[in-house]
Amino acid sequence: MTLMDNVRVQLEERSYDILIAQGGLQQAAGILQNLAASRRCLIVTDSNVQPLYEKQLKLALAEVGAESANYVYPAGEEYKTPETVIDICRKGVRSGLDRKSLIIALGGGVCGDMAGFAAAVYMRGIDFIQIPTTLLSMVDSSVGGKTGADLPEGKNLVGAFWQPQIVLIDPETLLTLPYGEICCGLAEVVKYGMILDGELFSLLEQNCEKLKNLDLEFYSKIIKRCCELKAEVVRRDEREGGMRAILNYGHTFGHAIELLSNFEIAHGKAVSMGMSVAASLAVDTGRVEKELQLRQNALLEKLDLPVKVSGDLEPEEIYNAMMQDKKTLGKIIRVVLPDTIGSVSIVDGLEKDVVIEAIRKCCE
Ligand SMILES: NC(=O)c1ccc[n+]([C@@H]2O[C@H](COP(=O)([O-])OP(=O)(O)OC[C@H]3O[C@@H](n4cnc5c(N)ncnc54)[C@H](O)[C@@H]3O)[C@@H](O)[C@H]2O)c1
Ligand SMILES: [Zn+2]
Repeated sequence: MTLMDNVRVQLEERSYDILIAQGGLQQAAGILQNLAASRRCLIVTDSNVQPLYEKQLKLALAEVGAESANYVYPAGEEYKTPETVIDICRKGVRSGLDRKSLIIALGGGVCGDMAGFAAAVYMRGIDFIQIPTTLLSMVDSSVGGKTGADLPEGKNLVGAFWQPQIVLIDPETLLTLPYGEICCGLAEVVKYGMILDGELFSLLEQNCEKLKNLDLEFYSKIIKRCCELKAEVVRRDEREGGMRAILNYGHTFGHAIELLSNFEIAHGKAVSMGMSVAASLAVDTGRVEKELQLRQNALLEKLDLPVKVSGDLEPEEIYNAMMQDKKTLGKIIRVVLPDTIGSVSIVDGLEKDVVIEAIRKCCE
């Protein structure tokens, strides 16, 4: 039997388990038996993941007497639209899904966000399961119940809070993930170390080789820790009233950079640059010693993540793009800045010139 780890997300009647099991997809019949037995299921997946992993899942579902249909969309953020979500729902109707049926997301964050959103609105809400297959979706997007799609006006502008029944993580699926996608996920892992867990940060520093060589034992441990940290943040603040905002460390700057690069700079890389800017700002405002910035940036660089803002962007442009962000409430600039390695504060109302200067120091 596979070694299995479990993280409980405590949200009263919406509580659920995150199972982390190497080879978990092979064992999916045993794991999903109670949930999926004899139910009609719609597997949502993308054109890259479908040929790799759908068959295993379909077999497992058949084994527990669940009938499954699939919806496959072309891989990529461009397809994370309300139109695709509607299409998923229409496929659900054509496949005979009713209120007792199940939607299963098999893929990365794009897949989980859309399948979850479809589950939230299909017949006013049906159950769904997350089977994340990217590092980012394992440590971040599959936990916490945020689902949604993009509009031409911006990312994630429509969506719903909709918690899954279970999250099944099989770290073995990382073996087929392109290295660049692994690095992007690692940016979020470093983020957890910076915001909540200095010990995790040290563990990453000491084990860069294991991370780069895709040591699955080590990944299982790291993924579990990240899920525990996110689960705790979500437990305390399910709907982002306050504390959940610390998860935006590096993201306020990162989103602006991503946007200005027309999404040429991948999310994880933009977040890495954003964390570098945040640390620079924390040094400039006297919150932390330079040592913290150096340590953070050294780890990012060891993991092949950028600490210099690339893409020929002007600091002022980045600042203006930040002010446009939907999370910049009431036009007061709000950033998450480090206090130590392992804790951060939400800081409001910094002077424009100070922010721009910190960005400038991180530009190439
Ligand atoms: N809901 C949340 O709380 C939350 C949090 C963070 C990010 N997100 C969202 O997540 C999305 C990004 O997620 P992502 O980076 O996982 O994107 P993604 O789903 O597009 O996956 C990235 C790429 O990896 C491929 N892929 C996935 N699994 C694979 C595997 N095992 N082997 C080979 N290829 C594989 C995909 O086909 C795709 O090309 C964004 O839309 C972002 O808004 C949501
Ligand atoms: Zn992110």
